[in-house]
Amino acid sequence: MAKLNIVKYGDETLRKVCRPVDKITPRTLTLLDDMLETMRDADGCGLAAPQVGVLRRIAVIEVEEGKPIELINPKIIAYAGEQQEQEGCLSLPGRWGITKRPKHVTVRAMNRKGEWFEISGSDLLARAFCHELDHLDGKLFIDEMVKELKE
Ligand code: NI
Repeated sequence: MAKLNIVKYGDETLRKVCRPVDKITPRTLTLLDDMLETMRDADGCGLAAPQVGVLRRIAVIEVEEGKPIELINPKIIAYAGEQQEQEGCLSLPGRWGITKRPKHVTVRAMNRKGEWFEISGSDLLARAFCHELDHLDGKLFIDEMVKELKE
Protein backbone atom coordinates (compact mmCIF):
# COMPACT_ATOMS: atom_id res chain seq x y z
CA MET A 1 0.00 0.00 0.00
CA ALA A 2 1.07 3.55 -0.53
CA LYS A 3 0.10 6.87 0.89
CA LEU A 4 -1.15 9.24 -1.79
CA ASN A 5 -0.91 12.99 -2.08
CA ILE A 6 -4.17 14.77 -1.20
CA VAL A 7 -5.21 17.43 -3.71
CA LYS A 8 -5.91 20.74 -1.97
CA TYR A 9 -8.55 23.40 -2.58
CA GLY A 10 -7.72 25.59 -5.56
CA ASP A 11 -6.72 22.64 -7.73
CA GLU A 12 -9.26 22.36 -10.55
CA THR A 13 -9.27 18.55 -10.23
CA LEU A 14 -11.66 19.03 -7.31
CA ARG A 15 -14.19 20.73 -9.59
CA LYS A 16 -14.33 18.04 -12.28
CA VAL A 17 -17.13 15.53 -12.76
CA CYS A 18 -15.74 11.99 -12.41
CA ARG A 19 -16.36 9.20 -14.88
CA PRO A 20 -17.85 5.85 -13.86
CA VAL A 21 -15.64 2.81 -13.35
CA ASP A 22 -16.35 0.52 -16.33
CA LYS A 23 -14.20 -2.34 -15.24
CA ILE A 24 -12.66 -3.17 -11.89
CA THR A 25 -9.00 -3.92 -12.47
CA PRO A 26 -6.06 -4.66 -10.14
CA ARG A 27 -5.33 -0.92 -10.37
CA THR A 28 -8.80 -0.16 -8.99
CA LEU A 29 -8.14 -2.44 -6.00
CA THR A 30 -4.74 -0.86 -5.37
CA LEU A 31 -6.36 2.57 -5.55
CA LEU A 32 -8.97 1.55 -2.96
CA ASP A 33 -6.25 0.22 -0.63
CA ASP A 34 -4.15 3.34 -1.06
CA MET A 35 -7.12 5.67 -0.54
CA LEU A 36 -8.00 3.90 2.69
CA GLU A 37 -4.43 4.18 3.94
CA THR A 38 -4.25 7.85 2.92
CA MET A 39 -7.56 8.66 4.61
CA ARG A 40 -6.58 6.91 7.85
CA ASP A 41 -3.16 8.52 7.88
CA ALA A 42 -4.79 11.96 7.54
CA ASP A 43 -7.35 11.18 10.27
CA GLY A 44 -10.23 11.61 7.87
CA CYS A 45 -13.50 9.69 7.78
CA GLY A 46 -13.92 9.84 4.02
CA LEU A 47 -11.95 10.30 0.83
CA ALA A 48 -13.00 10.51 -2.80
CA ALA A 49 -10.86 9.57 -5.81
CA PRO A 50 -10.59 13.12 -7.21
CA GLN A 51 -8.95 14.10 -3.92
CA VAL A 52 -6.03 11.89 -4.92
CA GLY A 53 -6.11 13.09 -8.52
CA VAL A 54 -8.15 10.24 -10.01
CA LEU A 55 -11.30 11.34 -11.87
CA ARG A 56 -13.28 8.15 -11.29
CA ARG A 57 -16.44 7.50 -9.28
CA ILE A 58 -14.79 5.88 -6.26
CA ALA A 59 -14.91 6.80 -2.57
CA VAL A 60 -13.97 5.30 0.78
CA ILE A 61 -15.61 6.08 4.11
CA GLU A 62 -14.80 4.96 7.62
CA VAL A 63 -16.89 6.46 10.39
CA GLU A 64 -16.65 3.34 12.54
CA GLU A 65 -13.08 2.23 13.13
CA GLY A 66 -12.19 -0.99 11.38
CA LYS A 67 -15.32 -0.92 9.25
CA PRO A 68 -14.35 0.75 5.99
CA ILE A 69 -16.95 1.21 3.29
CA GLU A 70 -15.75 1.10 -0.30
CA LEU A 71 -18.03 2.65 -2.90
CA ILE A 72 -17.63 2.23 -6.64
CA ASN A 73 -20.09 4.11 -8.91
CA PRO A 74 -22.21 5.10 -5.88
CA LYS A 75 -25.59 6.77 -6.18
CA ILE A 76 -27.95 8.10 -3.52
CA ILE A 77 -31.22 6.22 -4.01
CA ALA A 78 -33.15 7.50 -0.98
CA TYR A 79 -32.88 10.17 1.67
CA ALA A 80 -35.00 11.55 4.48
CA GLY A 81 -34.98 14.13 7.22
CA GLU A 82 -32.55 16.95 7.75
CA GLN A 83 -29.50 17.71 9.87
CA GLN A 84 -27.27 20.71 10.27
CA GLU A 85 -23.89 19.67 11.59
CA GLN A 86 -20.22 20.47 11.32
CA GLU A 87 -18.27 19.36 8.26
CA GLY A 88 -14.70 19.59 7.09
CA CYS A 89 -12.65 18.12 4.26
CA LEU A 90 -9.11 16.79 3.87
CA SER A 91 -8.77 18.98 0.77
CA LEU A 92 -9.65 22.11 2.75
CA PRO A 93 -7.52 21.80 5.89
CA GLY A 94 -8.43 24.24 8.63
CA ARG A 95 -11.85 25.07 7.23
CA TRP A 96 -15.03 23.99 8.98
CA GLY A 97 -18.64 24.82 8.48
CA ILE A 98 -22.21 23.85 9.16
CA THR A 99 -23.96 22.20 6.24
CA LYS A 100 -27.54 21.18 5.66
CA ARG A 101 -27.77 17.49 4.80
CA PRO A 102 -30.39 14.75 4.93
CA LYS A 103 -30.40 12.83 8.22
CA HIS A 104 -30.79 9.42 6.60
CA VAL A 105 -29.27 8.38 3.29
CA THR A 106 -29.30 5.13 1.31
CA VAL A 107 -26.62 4.53 -1.29
CA ARG A 108 -26.39 1.93 -4.03
CA ALA A 109 -22.85 1.11 -5.13
CA MET A 110 -20.55 -1.63 -6.32
CA ASN A 111 -18.05 -3.32 -4.04
CA ARG A 112 -14.53 -4.33 -5.08
CA LYS A 113 -15.85 -7.60 -6.47
CA GLY A 114 -18.16 -5.69 -8.80
CA GLU A 115 -21.29 -6.69 -6.87
CA TRP A 116 -24.02 -4.10 -6.35
CA PHE A 117 -25.13 -3.50 -2.77
CA GLU A 118 -27.20 -1.00 -0.82
CA ILE A 119 -26.17 0.65 2.41
CA SER A 120 -28.05 3.06 4.66
CA GLY A 121 -26.65 5.48 7.19
CA SER A 122 -27.80 8.21 9.54
CA ASP A 123 -26.16 11.26 11.07
CA LEU A 124 -22.37 11.26 10.49
CA LEU A 125 -22.53 8.38 8.00
CA ALA A 126 -25.31 10.12 6.06
CA ARG A 127 -23.20 13.29 5.95
CA ALA A 128 -20.18 11.31 4.79
CA PHE A 129 -22.18 9.71 1.96
CA CYS A 130 -23.37 13.13 0.77
CA HIS A 131 -19.95 14.75 1.15
CA GLU A 132 -18.00 12.04 -0.68
CA LEU A 133 -20.56 11.60 -3.45
CA ASP A 134 -20.57 15.38 -3.98
CA HIS A 135 -16.81 15.19 -4.61
CA LEU A 136 -17.51 12.87 -7.56
CA ASP A 137 -19.51 15.69 -9.16
CA GLY A 138 -16.98 18.40 -8.42
CA LYS A 139 -18.88 19.76 -5.43
CA LEU A 140 -17.37 20.76 -2.10
CA PHE A 141 -18.95 21.20 1.32
CA ILE A 142 -18.34 24.95 1.21
CA ASP A 143 -20.85 25.12 -1.66
CA GLU A 144 -23.62 24.00 0.70
CA MET A 145 -22.34 25.62 3.84
CA VAL A 146 -24.94 27.54 5.81
CA LYS A 147 -22.35 28.91 8.23
CA GLU A 148 -18.55 28.97 8.26
CA LEU A 149 -16.88 28.19 11.57
CA LYS A 150 -13.58 29.70 12.57
CA GLU A 151 -10.95 27.27 13.76
NI1 NI B 1 -14.00 16.15 1.29
